[in-house]
Amino acid sequence: MLKNLAPERNSLEAIETASVDELQALQLERMKWSLKHAYDNVPFYKSGFENAGVHPDDLKQLSDLAKFPFTVKQDLRNNYPFGMFAVPREQIARIHASSGTTGKPTVVGYTKNDIDTWATVMARSLRASGTRPGDVVHNAYGYGLFTGGLGAHYGAEKLGCTVVPVSGGMTDRQVTLINDFKATTIMVTPSYALSIADAYRAQGMDPRDSPLQVGIFGAEPWTNAMREEIEQMFDMNAVDIYGLSEIIGPGVANECVETKDGPTIWEDHFYPEVINPETGELVEEGEQGELVFTSLTKEAFPIIRYRTRDLTRLLPGTARTMRRMEKITGRSDDMIILRGVNVFPSQIEEQLMRVEALSPHFQIELSRANRLDSMTIHVEAGDSNASGELGLQAAEQLKLHIKSNVGVSVKVNVCEAGAVPRSQGKAVRIVDNRA
Ligand code: DLL
Repeated sequence: MLKNLAPERNSLEAIETASVDELQALQLERMKWSLKHAYDNVPFYKSGFENAGVHPDDLKQLSDLAKFPFTVKQDLRNNYPFGMFAVPREQIARIHASSGTTGKPTVVGYTKNDIDTWATVMARSLRASGTRPGDVVHNAYGYGLFTGGLGAHYGAEKLGCTVVPVSGGMTDRQVTLINDFKATTIMVTPSYALSIADAYRAQGMDPRDSPLQVGIFGAEPWTNAMREEIEQMFDMNAVDIYGLSEIIGPGVANECVETKDGPTIWEDHFYPEVINPETGELVEEGEQGELVFTSLTKEAFPIIRYRTRDLTRLLPGTARTMRRMEKITGRSDDMIILRGVNVFPSQIEEQLMRVEALSPHFQIELSRANRLDSMTIHVEAGDSNASGELGLQAAEQLKLHIKSNVGVSVKVNVCEAGAVPRSQGKAVRIVDNRA
């Protein structure tokens, strides 16, 4: 039985349980400030608003935001490194940057106040996940320019936890530290959590016997099927944390442990919209589309209508007043078009979880022969022998599940444990050899 870790209502911030009217009044006041701040201090926004024929004074109600132009990743690249900052460089207390595998990295900056805002929303996220002041938090998100490590670190400290700043890597040692320091919360990508579970077993231990009670997983898509798998594996609550560097880092939204029904967006700081990615129009309330965010309180790096490329829908609040987002199904960049059918890695993950004999470690390889694209799923056998009868049966089962539920024919290669490359942060799900 998983422990019931719902936080006491009186431990929440007042805004988390305020009325919708109160929340919207605060959002409107802050949105006016943020638009004006961006317009007055960032030439990119001033000229962008002018070209679109809008002025911050045109915002009379929240829905007026739709009149303002979008911001996209290329805009940040064009203003590399500090062109999007709204305060003098001397007031920037910290810089983070995306890995920038293609082209220049995307640079973001924070004032001291921004760091404090970030710590506040992260502390709120930890509390929502079931973590309490005084808990030991094992932080395996990467430290450095990536926002995961330091973002989680400051939040856990602000909540009053004992933080273990392990970062990613040295997987065997992660096990030792979790056990010896009696960590009750782990913060890590879901794919690296699976590697840590493997390390437990390799050391002759059952991850279910670890002291962990809460896992706060994000930075990459993971399905509800994976949640069940991880909860069983560790006998702990697994909740979803969402965020991106351009908006602040982790802690833009976080699932509440009492409902586990999609991350609650901390929309007193980050205002969400969902648009049709093709037309840029707002979709109907509750429909799927691309998530767009406007920062409401950030000083150093205000961001207006940023297109995340993440696909989801907005849902009404449940455990909190704020709205939720459905668990991310994928990024528009990760969508594979295989012989005319759209496929997301998360759909493959979902089917794979249904096959008992397979482990959750997988990678998708795309190749092209005679102008025909094909997809091979490399997946490890669980406890069974990959090339034996069970392995072959599992491959057939997975092919069938994918064919009937996703609608594409794929090849499945069941391999030995350890054959699928491991990541210590975000998993690389797609290897594209088509070019
Ligand atoms: O990944 C921030 C983060 C760190 C979030 C730790 C959660 C935990 P970026 O490196 O800028 O920032 O990558 C942001 O990662 O646009 C999504 O595509 C993806 N992503 C982040 N969280 C989730 C999630 C961090 N919970 C990009 N589910 C985002 C699905 C996620 N995708």
